[in-house]
Amino acid sequence: MTPAPALAITLPRQADTAPTGADAVRHHYDVGNSFFERWLDPTMTYSCALWDGTDDLETAQIRKLDWHARAMAAAPGQTVLDIGCGWGAMMDRLVRHWRVQRAVGLTLSHEQARHIAARRDFAISARLESWADHQPTALYDGIVSVGAFEHFASPTLDAARRVATYRAFFQSCRDWLKPGGRLSLQTIAYDALSTRKFSDFIRREIFPDAELPTLGEILAASDGLFRPLLITDDGDGYARTCRVWRHRLLAAHGDSKRLTPEARRFQRYLRISEASFQRRNITLLRLAFERSSS
Ligand SMILES: C[S@@+](CC[C@H](N)C(=O)[O-])C[C@H]1O[C@@H](n2cnc3c(N)ncnc32)[C@H](O)[C@@H]1O
Repeated sequence: MTPAPALAITLPRQADTAPTGADAVRHHYDVGNSFFERWLDPTMTYSCALWDGTDDLETAQIRKLDWHARAMAAAPGQTVLDIGCGWGAMMDRLVRHWRVQRAVGLTLSHEQARHIAARRDFAISARLESWADHQPTALYDGIVSVGAFEHFASPTLDAARRVATYRAFFQSCRDWLKPGGRLSLQTIAYDALSTRKFSDFIRREIFPDAELPTLGEILAASDGLFRPLLITDDGDGYARTCRVWRHRLLAAHGDSKRLTPEARRFQRYLRISEASFQRRNITLLRLAFERSSS
Protein backbone atom coordinates (compact mmCIF):
# COMPACT_ATOMS: atom_id res chain seq x y z
CA MET A 1 0.00 0.00 0.00
CA THR A 2 1.24 3.51 -0.81
CA PRO A 3 0.91 5.70 2.27
CA ALA A 4 -0.73 9.11 2.01
CA PRO A 5 1.85 11.93 1.95
CA ALA A 6 1.47 13.01 5.58
CA LEU A 7 1.78 9.45 6.84
CA ALA A 8 5.54 9.36 6.86
CA ILE A 9 7.11 5.97 7.49
CA THR A 10 10.80 6.51 7.95
CA LEU A 11 13.17 3.58 7.89
CA PRO A 12 15.63 3.48 10.77
CA ARG A 13 18.99 4.98 9.85
CA GLN A 14 20.81 2.03 11.41
CA ALA A 15 18.87 -1.11 10.53
CA ASP A 16 18.33 -3.53 13.41
CA THR A 17 21.13 -2.21 15.57
CA ALA A 18 21.70 -3.85 18.91
CA PRO A 19 21.24 -0.73 21.05
CA THR A 20 17.63 -0.29 19.94
CA GLY A 21 16.96 -4.03 20.17
CA ALA A 22 14.80 -3.66 17.06
CA ASP A 23 14.83 -7.36 16.21
CA ALA A 24 13.82 -8.27 19.74
CA VAL A 25 10.95 -5.78 19.66
CA ARG A 26 9.73 -7.01 16.26
CA HIS A 27 9.88 -10.60 17.51
CA HIS A 28 6.99 -9.69 19.79
CA TYR A 29 4.92 -7.11 17.89
CA ASP A 30 5.21 -8.40 14.34
CA VAL A 31 3.44 -11.73 14.88
CA GLY A 32 0.59 -10.21 12.87
CA ASN A 33 -2.03 -7.54 13.48
CA SER A 34 -4.85 -10.05 13.10
CA PHE A 35 -3.52 -12.02 16.07
CA PHE A 36 -3.64 -8.97 18.38
CA GLU A 37 -6.98 -7.80 16.94
CA ARG A 38 -8.59 -10.99 18.22
CA TRP A 39 -8.07 -10.27 21.92
CA LEU A 40 -7.08 -6.63 22.48
CA ASP A 41 -9.93 -4.13 22.85
CA PRO A 42 -11.22 -2.27 19.75
CA THR A 43 -8.74 0.61 20.27
CA MET A 44 -5.85 -1.94 20.02
CA THR A 45 -4.26 -0.59 23.18
CA TYR A 46 -1.55 -2.95 24.40
CA SER A 47 -0.64 -1.76 27.88
CA CYS A 48 -2.11 -1.70 31.39
CA ALA A 49 -5.65 -0.30 31.53
CA LEU A 50 -6.87 2.07 34.25
CA TRP A 51 -9.82 0.29 35.83
CA ASP A 52 -12.73 1.65 37.78
CA GLY A 53 -15.35 -0.66 39.26
CA THR A 54 -17.00 -2.88 36.69
CA ASP A 55 -15.44 -1.27 33.62
CA ASP A 56 -15.17 -3.23 30.41
CA LEU A 57 -11.71 -3.36 28.82
CA GLU A 58 -12.25 -0.62 26.24
CA THR A 59 -13.62 1.83 28.83
CA ALA A 60 -10.64 1.15 31.11
CA GLN A 61 -8.19 1.61 28.23
CA ILE A 62 -9.74 4.94 27.25
CA ARG A 63 -9.58 6.09 30.88
CA LYS A 64 -5.86 5.27 30.80
CA LEU A 65 -5.34 7.19 27.53
CA ASP A 66 -7.09 10.20 29.09
CA TRP A 67 -4.96 9.94 32.23
CA HIS A 68 -1.87 10.39 30.08
CA ALA A 69 -3.47 13.16 28.01
CA ARG A 70 -4.11 15.10 31.22
CA ALA A 71 -0.65 14.31 32.58
CA MET A 72 0.97 15.72 29.43
CA ALA A 73 -1.39 18.74 29.54
CA ALA A 74 -2.78 17.96 26.07
CA ALA A 75 -4.64 20.89 24.50
CA PRO A 76 -6.07 21.94 21.14
CA GLY A 77 -3.54 22.96 18.51
CA GLN A 78 -0.55 21.15 20.04
CA THR A 79 2.02 18.94 18.36
CA VAL A 80 2.87 15.89 20.45
CA LEU A 81 5.13 12.85 20.32
CA ASP A 82 4.15 9.28 21.29
CA ILE A 83 7.27 7.14 21.85
CA GLY A 84 6.25 3.51 21.35
CA CYS A 85 2.91 4.34 19.74
CA GLY A 86 1.75 0.75 19.19
CA TRP A 87 -1.24 0.66 16.83
CA GLY A 88 -1.93 4.37 17.39
CA ALA A 89 -4.68 4.40 20.06
CA MET A 90 -3.10 7.22 22.07
CA MET A 91 -2.48 9.41 19.03
CA ASP A 92 -6.02 8.80 17.87
CA ARG A 93 -7.46 9.81 21.24
CA LEU A 94 -5.24 12.91 21.43
CA VAL A 95 -6.32 14.10 17.99
CA ARG A 96 -10.03 13.14 18.11
CA HIS A 97 -10.92 13.86 21.73
CA TRP A 98 -8.28 16.30 22.96
CA ARG A 99 -8.09 18.23 19.67
CA VAL A 100 -4.33 18.01 19.42
CA GLN A 101 -3.37 19.24 15.96
CA ARG A 102 -0.64 16.75 15.13
CA ALA A 103 0.63 13.55 16.70
CA VAL A 104 3.90 11.90 15.73
CA GLY A 105 4.40 8.30 16.81
CA LEU A 106 7.52 6.15 16.95
CA THR A 107 7.44 2.37 16.72
CA LEU A 108 9.88 -0.37 15.75
CA SER A 109 7.11 -2.62 14.45
CA HIS A 110 6.46 -2.73 10.70
CA GLU A 111 2.99 -4.14 11.32
CA GLN A 112 2.03 -1.31 13.66
CA ALA A 113 3.35 1.38 11.30
CA ARG A 114 1.41 -0.19 8.44
CA HIS A 115 -1.76 -0.32 10.53
CA ILE A 116 -1.51 3.41 11.34
CA ALA A 117 -0.65 4.38 7.77
CA ALA A 118 -3.73 2.52 6.50
CA ARG A 119 -5.95 4.97 8.38
CA ARG A 120 -4.80 7.80 6.11
CA ASP A 121 -5.26 10.31 8.91
CA PHE A 122 -3.28 13.42 8.08
CA ALA A 123 -3.04 14.49 11.72
CA ILE A 124 -1.21 11.30 12.68
CA SER A 125 2.11 10.02 11.41
CA ALA A 126 3.88 6.83 12.40
CA ARG A 127 7.64 6.65 12.03
CA LEU A 128 9.39 3.29 11.97
CA GLU A 129 12.18 4.57 14.12
CA SER A 130 13.71 4.26 17.58
CA TRP A 131 13.63 7.22 19.93
CA ALA A 132 17.45 6.98 19.84
CA ASP A 133 17.37 7.94 16.12
CA HIS A 134 14.57 10.48 16.23
CA GLN A 135 15.32 13.98 15.00
CA PRO A 136 12.28 16.22 15.36
CA THR A 137 11.79 19.11 12.98
CA ALA A 138 10.32 21.32 15.74
CA LEU A 139 9.87 21.21 19.51
CA TYR A 140 6.92 19.27 20.91
CA ASP A 141 4.29 20.57 23.33
CA GLY A 142 4.08 17.21 25.07
CA ILE A 143 5.50 13.68 24.97
CA VAL A 144 3.91 10.42 26.04
CA SER A 145 5.46 6.96 26.24
CA VAL A 146 3.38 3.99 27.35
CA GLY A 147 4.75 0.48 27.60
CA ALA A 148 7.95 1.11 25.62
CA PHE A 149 10.45 1.94 28.38
CA GLU A 150 10.65 -1.81 29.17
CA HIS A 151 12.44 -2.26 25.83
CA PHE A 152 15.04 0.48 26.19
CA ALA A 153 17.71 -1.30 28.26
CA SER A 154 19.17 -4.69 27.45
CA PRO A 155 19.61 -7.25 30.27
CA THR A 156 23.31 -7.35 29.41
CA LEU A 157 23.79 -3.82 30.80
CA ASP A 158 24.98 -3.32 34.37
CA ALA A 159 23.12 -0.90 36.64
CA ALA A 160 25.24 2.12 35.75
CA ARG A 161 24.89 1.62 32.00
CA ARG A 162 21.19 0.92 32.36
CA VAL A 163 20.66 4.24 34.13
CA ALA A 164 22.86 5.94 31.50
CA THR A 165 20.58 4.55 28.76
CA TYR A 166 17.48 5.80 30.56
CA ARG A 167 19.17 9.16 31.10
CA ALA A 168 19.87 9.45 27.37
CA PHE A 169 16.13 8.92 26.81
CA PHE A 170 15.19 11.62 29.33
CA GLN A 171 17.83 13.96 27.90
CA SER A 172 16.36 13.52 24.40
CA CYS A 173 12.82 14.11 25.65
CA ARG A 174 13.96 17.24 27.45
CA ASP A 175 15.73 18.52 24.33
CA TRP A 176 12.60 17.92 22.23
CA LEU A 177 10.12 19.66 24.56
CA LYS A 178 9.16 23.31 24.70
CA PRO A 179 9.84 25.04 28.05
CA GLY A 180 7.29 23.83 30.60
CA GLY A 181 6.44 20.81 28.41
CA ARG A 182 5.24 17.62 30.05
CA LEU A 183 6.28 14.00 29.64
CA SER A 184 3.89 11.24 30.66
CA LEU A 185 5.48 7.83 31.12
CA GLN A 186 4.05 4.39 31.85
CA THR A 187 6.23 1.36 32.44
CA ILE A 188 6.34 -1.98 34.20
CA ALA A 189 9.00 -1.89 36.92
CA TYR A 190 10.51 -4.20 39.46
CA ASP A 191 8.72 -3.65 42.72
CA ALA A 192 10.81 -1.45 44.98
CA LEU A 193 11.06 -4.15 47.63
CA SER A 194 11.77 -7.15 45.45
CA THR A 195 14.93 -8.39 43.83
CA ARG A 196 15.24 -8.26 40.04
CA LYS A 197 13.33 -11.51 39.65
CA PHE A 198 11.21 -12.32 36.62
CA SER A 199 10.15 -15.28 34.53
CA ASP A 200 12.87 -16.98 32.43
CA PHE A 201 10.19 -18.08 29.94
CA ILE A 202 9.10 -14.47 29.34
CA ARG A 203 12.69 -13.26 29.08
CA ARG A 204 13.56 -16.01 26.59
CA GLU A 205 10.44 -16.40 24.45
CA ILE A 206 8.23 -13.33 24.83
CA PHE A 207 10.41 -10.27 25.45
CA PRO A 208 13.99 -11.15 24.54
CA ASP A 209 16.51 -8.39 25.21
CA ALA A 210 14.08 -6.46 27.43
CA GLU A 211 14.80 -5.38 30.99
CA LEU A 212 12.68 -3.62 33.58
CA PRO A 213 13.69 -0.52 35.50
CA THR A 214 13.14 0.23 39.18
CA LEU A 215 11.50 3.46 40.31
CA GLY A 216 14.85 4.49 41.81
CA GLU A 217 16.57 4.10 38.43
CA ILE A 218 13.89 6.16 36.69
CA LEU A 219 14.22 8.97 39.22
CA ALA A 220 18.03 8.89 39.11
CA ALA A 221 17.99 8.96 35.31
CA SER A 222 15.57 11.89 35.11
CA ASP A 223 17.08 13.89 37.98
CA GLY A 224 17.78 17.49 36.95
CA LEU A 225 16.14 16.98 33.54
CA PHE A 226 12.54 16.53 34.67
CA ARG A 227 10.58 17.33 37.79
CA PRO A 228 8.29 14.45 38.81
CA LEU A 229 4.77 15.81 39.35
CA LEU A 230 2.89 12.60 40.02
CA ILE A 231 3.80 8.92 40.43
CA THR A 232 1.16 6.21 40.69
CA ASP A 233 1.55 2.48 41.27
CA ASP A 234 -1.03 0.18 39.66
CA GLY A 235 0.22 -3.41 39.78
CA ASP A 236 -3.31 -4.64 40.55
CA GLY A 237 -4.54 -2.88 37.43
CA TYR A 238 -2.05 -4.78 35.28
CA ALA A 239 -2.92 -8.11 36.93
CA ARG A 240 -6.57 -7.46 35.98
CA THR A 241 -5.61 -6.37 32.44
CA CYS A 242 -3.60 -9.57 31.91
CA ARG A 243 -6.47 -11.68 33.23
CA VAL A 244 -9.00 -10.00 30.92
CA TRP A 245 -6.66 -10.32 27.91
CA ARG A 246 -6.13 -14.02 28.70
CA HIS A 247 -9.87 -14.68 28.87
CA ARG A 248 -10.43 -12.82 25.60
CA LEU A 249 -7.62 -14.74 23.91
CA LEU A 250 -9.18 -18.00 25.03
CA ALA A 251 -12.69 -16.92 23.99
CA ALA A 252 -11.37 -15.92 20.56
CA HIS A 253 -10.18 -19.50 20.01
CA GLY A 254 -13.23 -21.26 21.42
CA ASP A 255 -11.46 -23.32 24.08
CA SER A 256 -7.97 -24.18 25.24
CA LYS A 257 -7.68 -27.21 22.91
CA ARG A 258 -8.00 -24.97 19.88
CA LEU A 259 -5.28 -22.50 20.82
CA THR A 260 -2.60 -22.06 18.18
CA PRO A 261 1.01 -22.46 19.38
CA GLU A 262 1.30 -18.65 19.33
CA ALA A 263 -1.86 -18.21 21.38
CA ARG A 264 -0.66 -20.90 23.80
CA ARG A 265 2.62 -19.01 24.37
CA PHE A 266 0.69 -15.80 24.99
CA GLN A 267 -1.71 -17.56 27.39
CA ARG A 268 1.28 -18.73 29.41
CA TYR A 269 2.94 -15.31 29.36
CA LEU A 270 -0.27 -13.56 30.46
CA ARG A 271 -0.81 -16.07 33.28
CA ILE A 272 2.76 -15.66 34.57
CA SER A 273 2.55 -11.87 34.28
CA GLU A 274 -0.72 -11.73 36.20
CA ALA A 275 0.80 -13.82 39.01
CA SER A 276 3.97 -11.67 39.05
CA PHE A 277 1.91 -8.50 39.52
CA GLN A 278 -0.18 -10.18 42.23
CA ARG A 279 2.96 -11.36 44.06
CA ARG A 280 4.42 -7.83 43.75
CA ASN A 281 7.56 -9.04 41.97
CA ILE A 282 6.74 -6.41 39.38
CA THR A 283 4.45 -3.41 39.33
CA LEU A 284 3.10 -0.78 36.95
CA LEU A 285 4.15 2.86 37.24
CA ARG A 286 2.59 5.94 35.70
CA LEU A 287 4.71 9.08 36.03
CA ALA A 288 3.94 12.65 35.03
CA PHE A 289 7.01 14.87 34.57
CA GLU A 290 7.58 18.53 33.81
CA ARG A 291 10.62 19.56 31.80
CA SER A 292 13.04 21.26 34.16
CA SER A 293 13.85 24.84 33.21
CA SER A 294 17.54 24.83 34.20
C1 LIG B 1 3.68 -2.67 24.63
S1 LIG B 1 3.69 -1.73 23.14
C2 LIG B 1 2.76 -0.34 23.71
C3 LIG B 1 2.08 0.37 22.58
C4 LIG B 1 1.19 1.53 22.98
N1 LIG B 1 1.91 2.58 23.65
C5 LIG B 1 0.01 1.07 23.77
O1 LIG B 1 -0.08 1.39 24.95
O2 LIG B 1 -0.86 0.40 23.20
C6 LIG B 1 5.40 -1.11 23.05
C7 LIG B 1 5.70 -0.19 21.90
O3 LIG B 1 7.00 0.35 22.07
C8 LIG B 1 7.66 0.36 20.82
N2 LIG B 1 9.11 0.47 21.06
C9 LIG B 1 9.91 -0.39 21.73
N3 LIG B 1 11.18 0.06 21.74
C10 LIG B 1 11.18 1.26 21.09
C11 LIG B 1 12.18 2.22 20.78
N4 LIG B 1 13.46 2.04 21.12
N5 LIG B 1 11.81 3.33 20.09
C12 LIG B 1 10.52 3.52 19.73
N6 LIG B 1 9.52 2.65 20.02
C13 LIG B 1 9.85 1.52 20.68
C14 LIG B 1 7.17 -0.89 20.14
O4 LIG B 1 7.40 -0.85 18.75
C15 LIG B 1 5.70 -0.82 20.51
O5 LIG B 1 5.02 0.03 19.62
